[in-house]
Amino acid sequence: MEKVYLIEEEINEVNEQLLLFYPNLNAKEDYKTDFFYNEYKKLDVEFNTRYDLTYQYLVNFSKTKNLPIHRWFYYQEGYSPELIKKVLKYLNLNGSTHLFDPFAGSGTSLVAAKELGIKATGIEINPFSCHMAISKTQNYSEEEINILENFEVPNYKPIKKLFEKYELSIIENLFEIENFEKIELIKKKIELEKNKKVNSILFTTLLCILQQVSYYKKAGNGLKKKRIYKSVDTFEAFKFKLDEIISDIKLNNNKNKTVIINDNCLNINNHKIDEIDISIFSPPYANCFDYYEVYKIELWIGEFVKSYEELRNLRKAALTSNLNADFKKKTKIVTTSKVLIPIIDYLNNTKLWDNKIPKMLNAYFSEMEQLLVSLVEKTKNGGYCVVVNHNNFIYCLN
Ligand SMILES: C[S@@+](CC[C@H](N)C(=O)[O-])C[C@H]1O[C@@H](n2cnc3c(N)ncnc32)[C@H](O)[C@@H]1O
Repeated sequence: MEKVYLIEEEINEVNEQLLLFYPNLNAKEDYKTDFFYNEYKKLDVEFNTRYDLTYQYLVNFSKTKNLPIHRWFYYQEGYSPELIKKVLKYLNLNGSTHLFDPFAGSGTSLVAAKELGIKATGIEINPFSCHMAISKTQNYSEEEINILENFEVPNYKPIKKLFEKYELSIIENLFEIENFEKIELIKKKIELEKNKKVNSILFTTLLCILQQVSYYKKAGNGLKKKRIYKSVDTFEAFKFKLDEIISDIKLNNNKNKTVIINDNCLNINNHKIDEIDISIFSPPYANCFDYYEVYKIELWIGEFVKSYEELRNLRKAALTSNLNADFKKKTKIVTTSKVLIPIIDYLNNTKLWDNKIPKMLNAYFSEMEQLLVSLVEKTKNGGYCVVVNHNNFIYCLN
């Protein structure tokens, strides 16, 4: 790596920026004595940090919720496809570019690449998110679109032993009984559909409406009961979403082939991914957020997870960014980063709300380092790596 920048132009005073990160500090002198401020400042100097607010509104998903395809499902940890397009334009990358996203999430980078006619590859560990990303980037034939247009929801009938197959502890509290029965009826009808792509997009449609018809919604680091619950009929919600999905796939149905792999991105060397021009991604942040908690409804109702044991195994394979990770095997991972060692030391000697936090950070940054080393090997000379991290983004030249 030759250089690392945080954003491109210096348009704001560093101190003003820091106030954004330290909103509770009023007096400027206060934060100058803060341990993290000083560590941050050292990094600014070492890596020639620059500030630019150009991208500020593009690093979250809110601008995306009305855009075709992206609007199917509100993936709150995603960013805007405009960010990808702006970065590619800024770096003058187009046509023959190979873009790689090791944390593909709901597929924002990959959908944006497809819209630009760019070859793209992604890896995503969460089977639900991976399913979403695949169905958003597939090409559908006229015949497949025709089958979708003629799909009809089944007739309603009550279902016996509705909850029996689910191990999930809160299963009985998630939906009105009739709505849950309708979910199961739609699932059964989808299973009968032989065409794999049609089957997959119908299933996506169902996944996209689960929160809408549930008593629960995503909130913070998990689920929360909706304060005001408005009953929405599963069949009606499904029909509406399917219409939206059909009209969107007609718009972005170019011939570009996107490859998405459901795996841990640290296994990148097991896959044939090379000649990368640009890796662009937002990793899970080391902020204790657990993706498997937030996407619990989709994971269980989508039957991507059938037991708590399967869930534990998925957690073990994800990047160590939360306290539900399995630390037994991770105690030996020691970061070699000269930036991180003083921070971990500081945290080890500070009273924290959970004493696993330094261990988590240690594992997190070791794993990120491992990924970045692999990316350097797989990137063409002169290629790029862009890391989007909250309202910072970092780009490195290979
Ligand atoms: C910040 S989100 C990415 C969102 C994405 N940029 C988008 O716009 O949809 C990070 C993603 O990394 C995934 N993830 C976590 N650990 C992973 C791993 N070891 N390998 C691959 N993906 C992983 C999470 O499931 C999550 O979807």
